[in-house]
Amino acid sequence: MNPPTEPGDLEAFLSGAKSICVLTGAGVSQESGVPTFRGADGLWRKFRPEDLATPEAFARDPLLVWEWYAWRRELIQRAQPNAAHLALADLEQRITALPGGQFTLLTQNVDGLHERAGSRNVVRLHGSIWHLRCSRCGEEREDRSVPLDPFPPRCECSGLLRPGVVWFGEPLPESEWSQAARAAAEAALFLVVGTSALVQPAASLPLIAKQNGARLVEVNPVPTPLSEMADCVVRSTAAEALGKLRTIH
Ligand code: OAD
Repeated sequence: MNPPTEPGDLEAFLSGAKSICVLTGAGVSQESGVPTFRGADGLWRKFRPEDLATPEAFARDPLLVWEWYAWRRELIQRAQPNAAHLALADLEQRITALPGGQFTLLTQNVDGLHERAGSRNVVRLHGSIWHLRCSRCGEEREDRSVPLDPFPPRCECSGLLRPGVVWFGEPLPESEWSQAARAAAEAALFLVVGTSALVQPAASLPLIAKQNGARLVEVNPVPTPLSEMADCVVRSTAAEALGKLRTIH
């Protein structure tokens, strides 16, 4: 692995790449005030995922799970995209304006902040907190209401509606996964921002990219299992590192 790179050097590293794939995690929204899962103030330090983020938890206590997501919705609704979200949207515009330019943003986040910042080609690997899905028939709909109904409403088929996110023990949506794996395999440059890279299968995407010849860049204030194989590591926050990307290409 190369020694850590200064945020300013990231520009030089990225310049010239015409096919970029980005994978983001909770760290990219941390500076917007949305808590991460495993960091110092991480949600999984205060709550148990098996009580709140599994299909079994919802079957056992739908109200508890519903209320937890209602609380997160309120928190996320108050948040604004930060400099990292904005820089990624800007980078996409500039790359896709180039002849043959390709840009795909793969996110594990359910908060929708990338879309709010203007990113277009976003693949939501873990779903969206702004969607509800029937736990019986699988019908999905967008629902932006805040606050949410105090109780999980029922679908026309009488099944309980649940958040439109992926829970532990559930597979990723097939079409999102195949789009993500294809984009990773085709990228010349794979940028990983703000993920602990511990949750599969999302954590395997940088490896797919690397095995197919991409250069791997990581932005994260702390080391992750990916750091060892990265071609470039930037040890700073997402907004600090990406906020400086505005002049390349
Ligand atoms: P984690 O909470 O596991 O990891 C967040 C990462 O962001 C850590 O590596 C932090 O060091 C880093 N980080 C913290 N602040 C940052 C900042 N300001 N800028 C850049 N990086 C920062 O979150 P994810 O990797 O996204 O899934 O977690 C993956 C999945 O596990 C989530 O989608 C969620 C969770 O359980 C489900 O709920 C199914």
